Amino acid sequence: MADALISVLLEQLASVVYQHTNQAVKLVLNAEKDVKSFSSKLKAIQAVLEDAEKKQLTDARVEDWLEKLKDVSYEMDDLLDEWNTEILRRQVEEKQEKEGENAPDTKKKVCFPMSSVCFCFGQANKVIHRRNIAKRIGELNEKLTSIAAEREMYGFHQSTKGGPDDQQLIQRKKTTSLVDISTIFGREEEKDMLLSKLLRESSPEEGRFLIIPIVGMGGMGKTTLAQLAYNDEKVTNHFHKKVWVCVSSPFDEIKIARAIIESLYKNETQKSSNELETLLLCIRSHVKDKKLLLVLDDVWTENQKEWENLKLPVIMQSCAEGSRILVTTRKQGVAKMMRASSMIYLDKLSDRDCLALFNSIAFFDRKKDEAAGFGAIGEEIVKKCKGLPLAAKTLGSLVWFKKTREKWRDVLNSKIWELEEVEEQVFRPLLLSYYDLTPAVKRCLLCCAIFPKDYHFKKNNLIELWMSQDYLNSKENKEKRRKGENYFESLVMRSFFQDFDGNEMGDILGCKMHDIVHDFVQFLTKKECIIIKAAKGDNQIVELPGDKVRHLTLTSVPEGPLSFPTSCCMCRNIRTLSIFNSRITTISPGSILQMKCLRTLNLSDSVVSELPKELGELIHLRYMDLSHNMYLKELPDAVCDLFNLQTLVLVWCEKLEKLPKAMGKLINLKHLYVLGCRALRYLPKGIGSLKSLQALDCFYVCEGGDTDNEAAALKLGDLGIMDQLQGSLEIDGLGNKDDASEIEKAQLGNKEHLSHLGVVFQDEYEEQRKGDEEIVKALQPHQNLESLDIRYCHIGTTESLYWIKSLHNLRKIYLDGWPVCEFLPPLGKLPSLEILEIECMEKVEKVGVEFLGIEQETETLSGILFPRLERLYFQSMDNWEEWEGITKEDSSSEVTIMPLLYILQISECPNLIALPDFLYKITTLHTLTIESCPILEQDYEKGVGKEWHNISHIPNLTIRPESESESEEV
Ligand SMILES: *[C@@H]1O[C@H](CO)[C@@H](O)[C@H](O)[C@H]1NC(C)=O
Ligand SMILES: *[C@@H]1O[C@H](CO)[C@@H](O)[C@H](O)[C@H]1NC(C)=O
Ligand SMILES: *[C@@H]1O[C@H](CO)[C@@H](O)[C@H](O)[C@H]1NC(C)=O
Repeated sequence: MADALISVLLEQLASVVYQHTNQAVKLVLNAEKDVKSFSSKLKAIQAVLEDAEKKQLTDARVEDWLEKLKDVSYEMDDLLDEWNTEILRRQVEEKQEKEGENAPDTKKKVCFPMSSVCFCFGQANKVIHRRNIAKRIGELNEKLTSIAAEREMYGFHQSTKGGPDDQQLIQRKKTTSLVDISTIFGREEEKDMLLSKLLRESSPEEGRFLIIPIVGMGGMGKTTLAQLAYNDEKVTNHFHKKVWVCVSSPFDEIKIARAIIESLYKNETQKSSNELETLLLCIRSHVKDKKLLLVLDDVWTENQKEWENLKLPVIMQSCAEGSRILVTTRKQGVAKMMRASSMIYLDKLSDRDCLALFNSIAFFDRKKDEAAGFGAIGEEIVKKCKGLPLAAKTLGSLVWFKKTREKWRDVLNSKIWELEEVEEQVFRPLLLSYYDLTPAVKRCLLCCAIFPKDYHFKKNNLIELWMSQDYLNSKENKEKRRKGENYFESLVMRSFFQDFDGNEMGDILGCKMHDIVHDFVQFLTKKECIIIKAAKGDNQIVELPGDKVRHLTLTSVPEGPLSFPTSCCMCRNIRTLSIFNSRITTISPGSILQMKCLRTLNLSDSVVSELPKELGELIHLRYMDLSHNMYLKELPDAVCDLFNLQTLVLVWCEKLEKLPKAMGKLINLKHLYVLGCRALRYLPKGIGSLKSLQALDCFYVCEGGDTDNEAAALKLGDLGIMDQLQGSLEIDGLGNKDDASEIEKAQLGNKEHLSHLGVVFQDEYEEQRKGDEEIVKALQPHQNLESLDIRYCHIGTTESLYWIKSLHNLRKIYLDGWPVCEFLPPLGKLPSLEILEIECMEKVEKVGVEFLGIEQETETLSGILFPRLERLYFQSMDNWEEWEGITKEDSSSEVTIMPLLYILQISECPNLIALPDFLYKITTLHTLTIESCPILEQDYEKGVGKEWHNISHIPNLTIRPESESESEEV
């Protein structure tokens, strides 16, 4: 950890000298000398850090020494940041003065004498402040002198390592498939045993249900085995209901019960209840007389009481005979506590199986290397895995992108193997992968220790979190994000992350971290990162274990304000505070003032209703997440004093009515997320001056009429200067009379980094709205756009959408609620379109050649239309009768339509009479679903319908009167 910290700090120190001379805010002479001397000592220390980091695991004195070094480094970091903030403050003040001068507003002039007094007073303050900073720099420099001198005692080796492994970046593409290897090696016997336990009849003495524990140490593949069985076809057919719950630690009955319900209902009906009894009743009613398979993954508790509270055995009694609970756990005690009659114990893999697993990864895609001498080294490496599949997997991925035998031998001969404790046995292979990371990536990995076990990471979240802690050091913010993406990939490649989930277009959005990896990361950060579960009924958080804690996560804090005991000076070094599963209403001002070093504050998903103005004192704060706080109505104005703030997340604060007026002061704000803030009628005007804003997920168009609001509101046209905007942008509430000219000023066509654009018009039902045509015309986005949504648009024809043809990179289109449009837009010639969803276009009666992209009557069909389309959905097209196919003349020319279509879904189209003939010939069509389309249902009815023979070859066919979920509700 120290090496990353220090390399970042060194860059800062270098820039500080430069910046401050540049800014003409000269450091006091001594301070400049001190900064230089500090840097040079730090550089000397940096050279031995790699060795020191390894030695600290076996030598407590080295550990101590590193602690001291880190303390000083952190302090220096804070100090520099304070200094920088001071400069930012000046910039903001200057900017405001300028704006004040330009503004015709006479009120400011009246106040002028007052503010000039403040200004002078401020100047005096600043001089004192600057002296103070210079003095503290001097003190830190002295401290570092003695630390540097101590270094001699330990005889560290200088590092020989060069820069980061470039291979790492070159080999990016292939690895995602590599990480999620589903084959299982050497567990055939256990798998058969497990399947027979799941599928056979229970004997009378066993009762109605069985508990089957799979026990083994971390990394043995318990979860993999359970997954294999869970997804087995025989198992799926055997049980009526399957539920998978990840339990982890701490054992939280309510959370588990909720997870079961969620898995059963696939919706959130009862999730909100806090009553265990209600939840259990709900589960019971749903599984009664059903044959149930319940998997409890990763159970830790051996506490009989906790287990009994959950009453699962009672519930299981009401299920059908043959139900099963499958449990995975590292502790045999858990199996005993559950009174399981027998268990499956996963032991080490044989060397042979371990090698097979290792080879399957290490030689993935490079089989010929196996013979070329790599194989022999591989065999040696595998011996060190001690039969642990996780280790084999980890090392396999570690060597996979090492392309010389020399590098393989380095892995083999690495000294890290000499550690002894049991825990470290598991960590050995991980340590190897860990040491192979560059310092910055190490830090990014370690900060994952602040999340609870089994946490589902979102990639973007993680990257912004890294940014907030200055782990992605780089001048350019855009660079930072790219760096973050690369770091994420490096961690993916080394199996530090797994269980990926992506969007329908195949991009990775999130992932989880293997349990052991999480343990490992916590082991490495045990002094710096801690997770504390609040004691029942007590909002006063217990004392922290020491003032070395830098990242604090609190879980299960009960309802009420969060406050630390006043004696708790332990939190003064905290840089991250996150809460999970908590119900705090606010943070006490006193507590905030104790956490002056805070960089990241995460109060998401709680019941925060107000925040104190003291928040403005957190001058280092860079990341604030207040999302999903249902009761939050406004933010304190003091938030605008957070000059370092980069990310502000407010999504789904449904009651949030307004944002502070002075948000233009947040000159470092790069990401503002306000999606789902339904009560928010507009964004404040000041945001318009944040030229370098990179993410604004939702723009609320201020409704005309209220002139007060209009003056205070950000205009669409203000987006014109924000050419850095990237990711996703939704524009909500279009349809006012000057929206078209504002959109034009917004220059969407210049936003080359935007990948998704969503526009939502005002949705009251109306006849054609003239203005909408103009707005649509002006919308024309940059051709890099990949995804486009347009909703509630009141245009009669699609002429104003003329620009859509030029969007060559568009992969997804979603059109919904166009009440007066009679035709579909011309989309057939879009070369990249993969997904198309069309909903509620009620005036459409015929879908003809215009949809295929043919605009002139003279043009004939030819070539490939919808060349990439894979999924096509139509829903609620009330008046749609005809879908034109290929006519006789066309079929003589060469034309192919939708050659890659995989899924077609048509629902609630009651008047549609037939499918077009070209669909029958698409060989890739795998899933066809027709719901609530009475005419089609009759003609395509299985076996008897007159058109049945045309679709009978499609593998996954569903034709039904209404969707299942709806029929259940009846
Ligand atoms: C959730 O699902 C259950 C059972 O299928 C149903 O009774 C309930 O109405 C659903 N709730 C919502 C909000 O869809
Ligand atoms: C903040 O907390 C919420 C839930 O409490 C979580 O979903 C989110 O990922 C967290 N964000 C960061 C950056 O820690
Ligand atoms: C078959 O179609 C249904 C929708 O009708 C879908 O939910 C399911 O995933 C499809 N199955 C496969 C194997 O694609």
